[in-house]
Amino acid sequence: MTTTAESHPPFFLRGNYAPVADEVTADALTVRGTIPPELRGRFVRNGPNPAHGVSPHWFLGDGMLHGVELDAGQVHWYRNRYVRTKSLAGEGPYVDDQGHVDLTVGPANTHVVGHAGRILALVESSLPYEMTVELDTVGWYDFDGRLTTAMTAHPKIDPATGELHFFGYAFTAPYLTYHVADRDGTLVRSEAITVPGPTMIHDFNLTEHHVVFMDLPVVFDLDLAMQGTMPYRWDDDYGARLGVMPRGGTDADVRWVDIEPCYVFHPMNAYESEGGIVLDVVRYSRLWDRSGDVFDPARLTRWTVDADAGTVKEEQLDDRATEFPRVDPRLVGRPYRYGYAVETVDGLGDEHMTLVKYDLETGRSQIHDFGPGREPGEPVFVPAGSGAEDRGWVMTYVYDAGRDTSDFVILAAGDFTAEAVATVPLPQRVPFGFHGSWIPDE
Ligand SMILES: [Fe+2]
Repeated sequence: MTTTAESHPPFFLRGNYAPVADEVTADALTVRGTIPPELRGRFVRNGPNPAHGVSPHWFLGDGMLHGVELDAGQVHWYRNRYVRTKSLAGEGPYVDDQGHVDLTVGPANTHVVGHAGRILALVESSLPYEMTVELDTVGWYDFDGRLTTAMTAHPKIDPATGELHFFGYAFTAPYLTYHVADRDGTLVRSEAITVPGPTMIHDFNLTEHHVVFMDLPVVFDLDLAMQGTMPYRWDDDYGARLGVMPRGGTDADVRWVDIEPCYVFHPMNAYESEGGIVLDVVRYSRLWDRSGDVFDPARLTRWTVDADAGTVKEEQLDDRATEFPRVDPRLVGRPYRYGYAVETVDGLGDEHMTLVKYDLETGRSQIHDFGPGREPGEPVFVPAGSGAEDRGWVMTYVYDAGRDTSDFVILAAGDFTAEAVATVPLPQRVPFGFHGSWIPDE
């Protein structure tokens, strides 16, 4: 799968990767099955939806949220809304002639998270955009002027402290900056982290007492930047390393450990164990090397990091190709048993996808296959309260190629292979996108 065909549109502009034309609001939706009545809130997912129908790269389309609001066993609404960014309005540029970056300009297309009463639409190149519960755009958000870098699309909420841990990266120094907002959403820490050069840092790892940065060999490339596409490419000479920092530490406390060059967009989870810090990640052997803008299959891999010894043990946990890993939000950074991901046979852009539930304790896994032509997106786990770790639900959008539309689907996480608990046919398709969240009522 490549994005370089001249006469043929690239994969991200075809089929269910293609954008939808309209912003729709629908409130009379039928439900097959039963919406669990204790679910009160909304499932919201972000993804690229290039407003003019074209985009130089899958990662660069204008952000659009698709949401479904649930209350007392009913579906209040489905709606999709652009994140009304400066980019969407044609304002900019992101970088001017002097190399000055305007962090308020960006597509806000990658993730949407709730923290401290705010809903933030995120892309890693820019500041967040604040959204309302009805998916309207409030505007760009810089933590009351305190955030002076871009913000990753993958911040992590510590389940014990309620803090929001995140970072921003840049193609000028400081290349990497770590940030913490407290449970009330006040930005209380920003710490520049020294890395050798500007790399694409999509996500990071949080444990109870540490953060672990991934400095991997997909580096900034000015020529690609001048072409207006994703300005990063593989570099055989950059090396690859993990940086372990105590959560209260500084740049000087980071211990860097070399690893085999690879790329990781997404960890599934991380935690501390007697053998070291465990990082479960979706690992690509290479990314965006000479073969072009290709996503080869990626596999769930466990790194066990002994920062004192300076070693990392690497073991592949599954032969299947997967992406979009998620866990129980109550166990972020803590030992966990279950993880959920999308299985892709030939890498992203594959024709058929299923959901996989990993049991990391037994090493077993289960597949939920929605059937021929029915393709799920990222599985978001929503806990049902106390009890077993997998007592809860898995939510996603499922594209139905036969009907050329999508369903909102709720699975029982503890009965993963069973028929869906609820299926809600939507009035239009939801293009394949990136990440989402369950944002409960306050
Ligand atoms: Fe991501």
